[in-house]
Amino acid sequence: MDLTAEEQEMLSGEKGPAVQKAMEIVVALAKIYGAKRLVPVKSVNVSGVSYKNLGDAGIGFLNEWAGLGAKVSVPTTLNPAGMDLVDWKKQGVPKDFAEKQEKVIDAFARMGIPKTCTCTPYLIGNLPKKGDHIAWGESSAVCYANSVIGARTNREGGPSALAAAICGRTGEFGYHLDKNRMANVVVEVGCPMEKDSDFGALGQIIGKQLKNDVPYFKGIKAASNYQLKALGASLAAWGGVALFHVDGITPEAKEKNMVAEGAQTIAVESLKEAYDAMNTGSDIIDFVSIGCPHASVSEIRAVADRVRGKKLKATLWVTTARATKEKAPDAVRAIEDAGGLVLADTCVVVSPIRSMGYKHLATNSGKMAYYSPNYCGVTVRFGTMEQCLQAAVSGRWPA
Ligand code: F3S
Repeated sequence: MDLTAEEQEMLSGEKGPAVQKAMEIVVALAKIYGAKRLVPVKSVNVSGVSYKNLGDAGIGFLNEWAGLGAKVSVPTTLNPAGMDLVDWKKQGVPKDFAEKQEKVIDAFARMGIPKTCTCTPYLIGNLPKKGDHIAWGESSAVCYANSVIGARTNREGGPSALAAAICGRTGEFGYHLDKNRMANVVVEVGCPMEKDSDFGALGQIIGKQLKNDVPYFKGIKAASNYQLKALGASLAAWGGVALFHVDGITPEAKEKNMVAEGAQTIAVESLKEAYDAMNTGSDIIDFVSIGCPHASVSEIRAVADRVRGKKLKATLWVTTARATKEKAPDAVRAIEDAGGLVLADTCVVVSPIRSMGYKHLATNSGKMAYYSPNYCGVTVRFGTMEQCLQAAVSGRWPA
């Protein structure tokens, strides 16, 4: 593999042991995947931030690297932590968990990474341009960056993303290469896509079938970035999709042919099977999750408009980035007056929710519907934001 003189110096330890360790990881992965060279990255999003996933071994790993003097060399953001870093008591997080989570965040801070803690880094300033090479973890953010922005990233794990942030490089393989960005499956969508939740439902059906193929959707007449965010998160959770195209809508599909020769075609005529698969839970609802992936300012406002002046029977968490929450103080107040919580820095799946005793969750996210039964020990109802908030008010899934 070709390395520049500077990369050789990094690898041989001339730039210090922390950079050397980062280069060893990046070069080892590049060789495994057959890269011919490394490419500089414009930004990084590091996943593996919650203490729930990292445990004490993860804290040890991060402290060891920080102790070697590791510093990130490109703009870097963090994925959600296991708690709201300010309001963790309100969230119901146990003190011993909070102390461990703070140790994780401190280790990242010593490496120069701000406490951004969000799965929508593109909504708070980590916004790459089309064609930029980046190294992002977090499957939903990867899918959005590749597909909706047209940037180029593989699905990085926590250590590989951190290594890329420290040495500013990643291997040129996978979705960094033109040839791997071509769709190998055309999806003919024959049913109307009327509701926002239809995009999560479509992601469930196609993600399950395709695993990590690249789909090219035809027949979707219009889609907002919010709907594409939901589609990508569901595709990435139910399968391993990291890149999709939508005919006439996503940036690469608007520019040129993105369908590979010999691509197979599948048809979707109805979303019913997805709604059935994600609606196996109880009619009684004690917990409602909105903001997976993290809510935008408009989503927070949409929630506020639906709960303003009401009193909620079920617990409602709207999860978002702190910078996003700070942009909508009136909406946050309306939600909190109704009895809900707008939590920053965290998400339902990576917080210690099992200890909080919830049993029956409602969500408008295909990704949350996938993870929450196993990660949170709850049954699931999936539908529109409207249905979820009706359930938050009444404590029952609407008929
Ligand atoms: Fe984000 Fe957590 Fe959903 S990381 S995409 S809110 S499962």
